[in-house]
Formats: sequence, C-alpha cells, structure tokens
Amino acid sequence: MRALTWHGRHDVRVDTVPDPKIVNPRDAIIKITSTAICGSDLHLYDHYIPTLKSGDVLGHEFMGEVVEVGPGNPKLKVGERVVVPFVIACGQCYFCQKQQFSACDNSNPAETADMSEVLYGYPMTGAFGYSHLTGGYAGGQAQYARVPYSDVGPIAIPDGVEDEKVLFLSDILPTGWMAAENCDIEPGDTVAVWGCGPVGLFAIQSAFVLGAERVIAIDHYPHRLNLAKFLGAQVVNFDEVNVREALVEMTGGIGPDACIDAVGMESHGFTIDNVADQVKAAVGLGTDRPHALRQVILACRKGGRVSIPGVYGGMADKFPIGALMEKGLSVKSGQTHVQKYLPKLLGMILDGKLDTTFLISHRLPLEEAPHGYKIFKEEQNDVTKVVLKP
Ligand SMILES: NC(=O)c1ccc[n+]([C@@H]2O[C@H](COP(=O)([O-])OP(=O)(O)OC[C@H]3O[C@@H](n4cnc5c(N)ncnc54)[C@H](O)[C@@H]3O)[C@@H](O)[C@H]2O)c1
Ligand SMILES: [Zn+2]
Ligand SMILES: [Zn+2]
Repeated sequence: MRALTWHGRHDVRVDTVPDPKIVNPRDAIIKITSTAICGSDLHLYDHYIPTLKSGDVLGHEFMGEVVEVGPGNPKLKVGERVVVPFVIACGQCYFCQKQQFSACDNSNPAETADMSEVLYGYPMTGAFGYSHLTGGYAGGQAQYARVPYSDVGPIAIPDGVEDEKVLFLSDILPTGWMAAENCDIEPGDTVAVWGCGPVGLFAIQSAFVLGAERVIAIDHYPHRLNLAKFLGAQVVNFDEVNVREALVEMTGGIGPDACIDAVGMESHGFTIDNVADQVKAAVGLGTDRPHALRQVILACRKGGRVSIPGVYGGMADKFPIGALMEKGLSVKSGQTHVQKYLPKLLGMILDGKLDTTFLISHRLPLEEAPHGYKIFKEEQNDVTKVVLKP
C-alpha cells in the first residue's frame, strides 16, 4: 500500500510499504477514506518528539471502511464506516475503567513502554503514528491501517453522513472539547484561549457550548483570528499588543477565569524567553518552548483554572511555578480521552449542534501529503486544516 513515511526533520515521503495484517484477535483492518494532518504531526515533522525511526508511517486522524475484523471482535462488521480515535485503549484496564483512555496501561507494548517510563515515571499509552514512545504503531496517513482493540475505539458512522462532518472526531474535536471541559466553566466566565489552530478553534466553540459568557482568543495570524471571531470570540494579536496587559484591561483588572494553552511546545514570538528556548532546542540543551504556557500562567486570574491540551514532550525551563502556586491556580492537561467523548459529540454533529467543516482549507490526494505538511507548517495563516484522500 501507499503511506506517508517519516525520514527525518522536514523529510516525509509517500512510499510503498507492506499492507497491514491482523496480528491480534481484537484487531481490525480499515481502508482509509479520509485522514488529516494535525498540529501534533508538526512536532514530529520538526523532530521535537524523540524515538521516531526512518520509515515510520505517520497519521493519527483517520476514518474509513472496515475491510477485515479479527475473531476477538464481535462488534465491528465488514463494510461499516468508522472513525478511529488516535488513542489506542484496551477498554479493560484500571484506567480505561475510569474512562481515562489516554492513560491505558495495555496498549503500549512492553518493549517500547520502558522509554516513556523513564521520561514520565509511568509508561505512555499507545497511539497511532506517533513515535516509538507510544508504541511505534503505523499511522493512518495511508491506504490501510491496523486498528488494535477495535472493539473499543472505532465508532460507527451512519450512512449518508459525509466523511468531513465526522473526521475530526478522531482527535481535534474531542481535544477542543476536553480542553474546555477541563476549564470547569462557571456561569459568567471569561475563557482565554492561546492558539487559533484547529485545537484552539474547537476549544473556543466548545467553551461557548459549555457555558462561557466570553471567550478571548490569542494568535498572530489574521485569518485564524478571523475564524475565532466567526465563532464569537474577541481576539488579541500577540504581534500587536502585550497579551497580559490586554487581558487585564478586557477583564476589568481581574484576568480571565480560565486559560487554555492550545499552542504546545513550539511557541512563536520574538520574546527573550522564547528566543532563549529556541537556541537551547537548536543545540540540544532543551526540548520544549513553553512561552505561551508561561504567559497563560501569568495572565490567569488568581484562583483561576489552566487547561493544557497543547502537547509538551520533555522538560521546560523557567517555568513560573511561583505564579502557579501563589495565585492558587488549578491545572488540568493530557492527551485526550477520545473514546469517552465520541458518542456525545457524534450525537451533537448529527443533531446539527456542532459543525466543524469550516476548518478545512485544503483537500489533497495522499500522494501530495508531503506538500500538505510543508504548507501546514509554512503557511499557517491560510492553511487551517489539510485533509488527505488516500
Ligand atoms: N492533547 C491532545 O490530545 C492533543 C490533540 C491534538 C493536538 N494537540 C496539540 O495541540 C496543539 C495545537 O494543535 P493544532 O493542530 O491546533 O496546531 P497548529 O500548529 O495548527 O496551531 C497552533 C497555533 O498556535 C499559535 N501560536 C503559536 N505561538 C503562540 C503564542 N505565543 N501565543 C498564541 N498563539 C500562538 C500559532 O500561530 C497557531 O495558529 C499542538 O501542540 C498539538 O500537538 C493535543
Ligand atoms: Zn491530531
Ligand atoms: Zn486500558
């Protein structure tokens, strides 16, 4: 089959690779009809996530048709259309029982779990196309994918609902939703969202659905800020104003009640801390560039809530632990427990309460995926989401 493979920093190619096969009884094989490039893929493209190997198949946002089901899955039927969560979860362990699917203890094989155990204290959960820290599973920017625990993750899509309406259930829609849910929104709340990429935009949409009175969105790309405005947010361009001062002024001196970091480890901006982080990352003395997160913690009101869907991988320098503690902030974060949110969010899409199709700016054949990565990285203002058609 054809698949998008990683070969090094800014070097991804479409290669011919072996077709996936059923390995375990609960596996299924999906023929992929739509798959997307995510901001998380850019962290791989830029090689900020360790343990990638040349030839790894990328992609964790995908959907398609079931073409083969292992004997251990009585639920899925050949011919069904499904969206597949990026998190691979067994459904039975201590964590899955608590619906903390992105903490599943069984989906990262023992031979790769050790690496993340050293980094994080406990092994990470398995995920598609996201390095060998998360199991080295082949991803879904391909014609076919093997889906482990296929009785737990994939959600069936009714006939007649186009791919583009539901594709984002695989990751960014539940991620935006969980980011807003993690803000514990109260009536009258102002929520500030850093980053107007797909995750930030869906977090804005979700924050309103969950009852925020006001959302303030921060980015520097005019088109992305316009999309935030279209969703009802007030906007702040960090190239033009001091973000913390603007937020203080917009909230009558109090500060936002809750703040979402939908930027992650590759913050933009020519501030002293960010330039220092970039230099450290370039010479191997650091990993993450948490400029936006520092700003989130400083700008959040006393006693406020911080939600971090943005991905961080290693260690962060000059982290404002004093502000976090002295202001009594609470913090929630994590890879999304996608499986937990699927039935509810699919229902909201089918009822017309959520529409995420506005986000798609580019549709490309799989063969043009390397170009898709390049423009999603280099032309972020206009390229808001790339959907690939294998
Ligand atoms: N937790 C999860 O399960 C999960 C799932 C999907 C994505 N993510 C992560 O969420 C983050 C965002 O993903 P995305 O697809 O929206 O990515 P993206 O790269 O398209 O968007 C990031 C946005 O942040 C903006 N930005 C950069 N620096 C900023 C700053 N200092 N202040 C304000 N805005 C700034 C950029 O201009 C860009 O618009 C990434 O880190 C991604 O890995 C997490
Ligand atoms: Zn993603
Ligand atoms: Zn589990």
